[in-house]
Amino acid sequence: MATDEIGLVVRDLTVAYSGVPAVRGIDLDVPAGHAIGLIGPNGAGKSSALLAIMGAVPHGGSVQVNGEAVDGLAPERVVRRGVSLVPEGRHVFAGLSVKDNLRLGAVGRRSSDGVAETLDYVVTLFPILAEFRDRQAGLLSGGQQQQLAIGRALMADPDILMLDEPSLGLSPTAVDSVFDALATIREAGKAVLVVEQRAEFTVAFCERTHVLHDGVITMTLKPEDATNVQVLTEAYFG
Ligand SMILES: Nc1ncnc2c1ncn2[C@@H]1O[C@H](COP(=O)(O)OP(=O)(O)OP(=O)(O)O)[C@@H](O)[C@H]1O
Ligand SMILES: [Mg+2]
Repeated sequence: MATDEIGLVVRDLTVAYSGVPAVRGIDLDVPAGHAIGLIGPNGAGKSSALLAIMGAVPHGGSVQVNGEAVDGLAPERVVRRGVSLVPEGRHVFAGLSVKDNLRLGAVGRRSSDGVAETLDYVVTLFPILAEFRDRQAGLLSGGQQQQLAIGRALMADPDILMLDEPSLGLSPTAVDSVFDALATIREAGKAVLVVEQRAEFTVAFCERTHVLHDGVITMTLKPEDATNVQVLTEAYFG
């Protein structure tokens, strides 16, 4: 597979719930080694877009992973094609240890080879997960749980990592450490698609950030737009 084929290509994606449109035809290109942002107000359709890519809600349009269509596949098969989602609200298994949460992440791997190497990579990225490996996940702080949720997603050895509001409810320091980790993950050649509410932060971090309003991309911002209050305000309030 050519390197330029690694990544996610979405065309004319639509999602509707009981006939009511939530995503109305969006295009996304998330190449290897890039982070692409998706921002927008509550109810804009951000989570629906991620769930549709995962095959967790029915969609129209097309989703290609590493050059191959995944439309109509169940989420676990989409994971095996190389896509991992860190869901909104983290959803770690609170009663299980850190180690067991990570082990469950490995269930979605394309190959059972290399689990130990991936685990090494994850604990290098998030050393706290090694330190607290036997602790119940529910006893970790919010920031640590987010690190665990990202680590668990990485255990599936994805080419494409999608995150739904990873900074939600975290302290500023915890947000910084999440984005530092995302920078390292991007540098390692993964394709990163991040949904966020923190516009300024996301626009500064991502190569491109799309603004979603009522299911439609209304604007695409570059890192230099992050300091332009007028552009950011327009992006949110139109
Ligand atoms: N399971 C569902 N059934 C019916 N309608 C839904 C469902 N999930 C989402 N919606 C509706 O679809 C629209 C888009 O919701 P979605 O959760 O994708 O937006 P969002 O941009 O992620 O919002 P938020 O910032 O609040 O997370 C909203 O109008 C929402 O009420
Ligand atoms: Mg959402």
